[in-house]
Amino acid sequence: MRLDANRAPLYEALERHAVRRAAAFHVPGHKGRATWDKTDAVRRYAELLPIDLTELSDTDDLHHPEGVIADAETLAADCFGAEETRFLVGGSTAGNLAMILGVCRPGELMLVQRNVHKSVVHGLMLAGARVVFLPPAVDPASGLAVVPAAETVREALRRYPEAKALLLSNPNYYGMASDLRDSIREAHERRIPVLVDEAHGPHFGRHPAFPASALQMGADVVVQSAHKMLSAMTMGAMLHLQGQLVSKSAVRQYLRMVQSSSPSYPIMASLDLARRELHTKKERSFEQALRTAEETRAGLEGTPFKALAADTTRGSYAIDPLKLVLFDATGTLDGFSLRDELERLGCIAEMADDRYVVLAFGTGTRPDDGQSLLAALKHIARTHRLEDRPAAGRREEASFFALAKELPEPVILHGEADDTEAVELGQAEGRAAGEWVIPYPPGIPVLYPGEIVTPSIRKQLERWRKQGARIQGASDTTLRTLKVLKR
Ligand SMILES: Cc1ncc(COP(=O)(O)O)c(C=O)c1O
Repeated sequence: MRLDANRAPLYEALERHAVRRAAAFHVPGHKGRATWDKTDAVRRYAELLPIDLTELSDTDDLHHPEGVIADAETLAADCFGAEETRFLVGGSTAGNLAMILGVCRPGELMLVQRNVHKSVVHGLMLAGARVVFLPPAVDPASGLAVVPAAETVREALRRYPEAKALLLSNPNYYGMASDLRDSIREAHERRIPVLVDEAHGPHFGRHPAFPASALQMGADVVVQSAHKMLSAMTMGAMLHLQGQLVSKSAVRQYLRMVQSSSPSYPIMASLDLARRELHTKKERSFEQALRTAEETRAGLEGTPFKALAADTTRGSYAIDPLKLVLFDATGTLDGFSLRDELERLGCIAEMADDRYVVLAFGTGTRPDDGQSLLAALKHIARTHRLEDRPAAGRREEASFFALAKELPEPVILHGEADDTEAVELGQAEGRAAGEWVIPYPPGIPVLYPGEIVTPSIRKQLERWRKQGARIQGASDTTLRTLKVLKR
């Protein structure tokens, strides 16, 4: 029987189960009822708990799907154009771990773009990979790092033909998307598979306004956070597979290892519903978000705020229209301050850095969200008298990820280094870091143990220290000191 895209087999099975109101002598202990003391929480959860089920005769098993989960995943593969799709309940994090472990055994070599999310780095650590980090290309106008240039990939593939995979992360957190086709072709010519962390691009290829998806460009394994830019619940993500270069059974095996044996049914069912929305409404799924983003962009005209756009970058990147990357063109408010001001006025951004504030639009965005944002920005412009100030010249600070022009030697990543000492940040320059430093978000490690603290990294850390950026990994999260390896 051909599956029907208008159905949501997993969600419908949960709904059927819930209305039976059978006496439940299986986990979870709540038995589908909110029994907490009378609070708002009871009202909030009461509707959801009846579908918070477990592996039963009619609800299938994520780790051995043969029924409604198999059907839901088959429909998702059809929708996204994959040969096989697996639902993830641990976000793209779980997918990144499994796809790396599925291709790389201890001591084997991986070619990996340097500016990757920590989940990729954690996967490389768990795999015991020897990693050659490829320096990313940097957009000279915005200073933001994107995927490595095709020439960098070509050189890495030439130098390391034994690599088990090439791993790229596209788009970046700012929605800057690169064309991966040349790099994928070069890797495939050497029978090296390409894994893509497309956490921020599950909508790519689903509307003419969006860039092509990694699957459309020929990647072998693609991981997408359906919860970030589609309508799935938080932690809902998907891993897609195609081609013969990666063992699908190995990736499945690692998914069984890195994901819970009690995966959340509300999350999985929300993946089924997000897929159905896309499958049936198609481009219409995004019309409201796109229109709102467009109107908001237009509303910036005449204000001191600008948004990153194809004509403000100087490379061949597509900009995701659902990401509004704002900056104060007068140079008065840095990204962190602008984010904080917006938050006080009731607009909560996805991320900020020292220049930009990233605002994500999605299937749930409504036109009044855009109006609230514009009203808040106008209020901020007035209170800071930004309108009276001239536009500042663009600061073109190259990303600190533009570490080296040369390909570095392979490294093996460790959780922490043994013989370290804490030194004042200023003294750390030129020393090998003794700990991880991960600004969050975006969660891309700036330093791993053993990596040399270059002048540009030291300067960037000092800027973050002054701005009070949120830092993970470092033992002194204020960044006054940094652990380095003893000489
Ligand atoms: C590029 C990138 N990859 C992977 C992840 C992890 O995704 P998730 O939060 O769905 O586990 C993130 C999260 O922010 C990310 O930015």
